[in-house]
Parts: sequence; C-alpha cells; structure tokens
Amino acid sequence: MPIVVKDLSCTYNVGTPAQSEALRGVSVTVERGELVSIVGHTGSGKSTLAQHLNALLIPQSGSVSIDGVAVTGETKDLRSLRRKVGLVFQYPEQQFFADTIREEIAFAPQNWGVLGQELDDCIDMAVLSTGLDPSLLGVNPFAVSGGQKRRVALASVLSMRPDYLVLDEPIAGLDASGIRELNRLMIKLRDEGLGVVQVTHDLESALGCSDRILVLENGSGTVCDRPEQVAEYLLSNPVTGLVMPPFLRFIAGLRGRNINLPLTSNINEIIDKLEETRGCVF
Ligand SMILES: Nc1ncnc2c1ncn2[C@@H]1O[C@H](COP(=O)(O)OP(=O)(O)OP(=O)(O)O)[C@@H](O)[C@H]1O
Ligand SMILES: [Mg+2]
Repeated sequence: MPIVVKDLSCTYNVGTPAQSEALRGVSVTVERGELVSIVGHTGSGKSTLAQHLNALLIPQSGSVSIDGVAVTGETKDLRSLRRKVGLVFQYPEQQFFADTIREEIAFAPQNWGVLGQELDDCIDMAVLSTGLDPSLLGVNPFAVSGGQKRRVALASVLSMRPDYLVLDEPIAGLDASGIRELNRLMIKLRDEGLGVVQVTHDLESALGCSDRILVLENGSGTVCDRPEQVAEYLLSNPVTGLVMPPFLRFIAGLRGRNINLPLTSNINEIIDKLEETRGCVF
C-alpha cells in the first residue's frame, strides 16, 4: 500500500505577522518500488512536503496516509510510521547527535530493540549500501567531509530498514561522480522494493532517474507525471526559478526552427533523429 497525500495545505505561524503558506492543495502518491522526485525552486514547499511524508508534520488541511494509516493528531503510533518512512534531512548535521558514526548508525535499530549480531548486520548492510568507508565508523560524524556526512545520514536511516525513504536534497554539494553514485543507489533501493522520494531543485537529475516527478511552484503542485511528460509540460509552461537543463533548452530551440526532436538527453537518439529529419549525416 502506498503513501497517499491528498489536497494537503500547510501554513506556518498562523495568525502572526510571519504567517507563510508553504503548501496549497498538493496531492501525490508514492508506491513501494517507485522513485518519485519532488522538484521546485527554493521556498516552493519541498521540505515541508517531505516532512509530511514521514509524519514529522501533521496535516492541517487535506490528508496524508501511510500504508492505509491516516496521519492525524490522534494517530496513536506515529513512531511506527516514522520508522516505516525514513527521512534524511536537507542538512545532515541536523540529525547527528552521537559521538561516533557507528553509534549514529546503530541508534535507530537499537532503539527498536535490535542487539548483538542482528545489530551488527543492520550496520554492515547500511554501510555497504551507502558506500561509506568502514574505517570511518569510529570517527565523529561532524568530523568528516560533506559527501561523507550525507552517506552517514543515509546509513543511519537505512539501518532501520524502512519501507520508504525520503531524501531531502541528497545531491546538494556532491560532485558529478557523487551524484551518479547517489542516483545509482536510489535506483538500487527502488529495485529492491523501497518507495524512494528524492527532493531536489535539480530538474536534470530528477529527469534522469525518476519514475515520476512532482513539480511544486509556490506551494502548489503544477504537474505530476512521468519524466518525458513533465519535460514536455515544462517546455510550454516554464516554472519561475526552475533551471531547464541544457538538453531541454537545445531541443526547445530546435523546435522553434521546426525541427522536432524527442525529449531525451540521450545524444545518440538526438543525432539519429537529426539525421532522419534533416537528411544530414554526422
Ligand atoms: N519552520 C518554518 N517556520 C516558518 N516558515 C517556514 C518554516 N519552514 C519553511 N517555512 C516557509 O515555508 C515556505 C516553504 O519552505 P520549504 O522549506 O518547504 O521550501 P523548500 O522548497 O524546501 O525550499 P529550499 O529549496 O530552500 O530548501 C517558505 O516560504 C519558507 O520560508
Ligand atoms: Mg528545502
């Protein structure tokens, strides 16, 4: 059963001069075994939505249900829901508190009563799947590089063996190979049956690895569809602040000259289509 968000709205600081409407009637569904990206410009409501997906925030209006359990102020076992949906924060430091990386990763399963060999297995699995260097297990989590901090944060959530994983801006600060590795990891976890949600302002990365993409603009969902459909939509309905990847701008430019190319970042497909439509050989 999926995570179902229906018509969700959220306003911070209601009734004060600092009141701000972060989400306005957003709907999205996340199934296990699919990778959904939430894309939008800064302040569009991505993190607010992410925090509703694991019941860290309770819906003020609209609804969120996780595998059939509605998230409300009265929900008895919010803790189990938060275990089911692991959330990796936008700033990994926000979730660190332990003295060593091992303790950081061990905390959640230990809290659920996992001990001994089973605990070691949970830690090994999380370290292995995130590609964290095992020699860092005794090091303080604040003392490693930005990319390693992201792996620690991810490993400490994966060690709970969640059914869903929500990653808030996981590629921020990573270099190109770090981004490729993370995309591969998200796809692997998706293929293993997890429902994976990536929050990002990077449309190019989302187009490259997602099954579906939800685009947020000023707290509202503007389009939620497969990557090709989202790319097609954005070509005619640009979203302020969302950077169009170069390949989409290139294709849009050619379309303006009546050369219709498929919406793909695959260079060979583009060359084939150009040869076909213009009779030129490259
Ligand atoms: N804890 C909070 N208290 C008050 N306002 C908040 C809070 N968190 C977010 N907001 C406001 O809600 C709106 C949406 O913020 P949110 O952090 O969800 O956006 P975002 O898309 O994640 O942005 P970014 O790309 O910068 O991370 C913004 O106007 C923001 O200022
Ligand atoms: Mg954010």
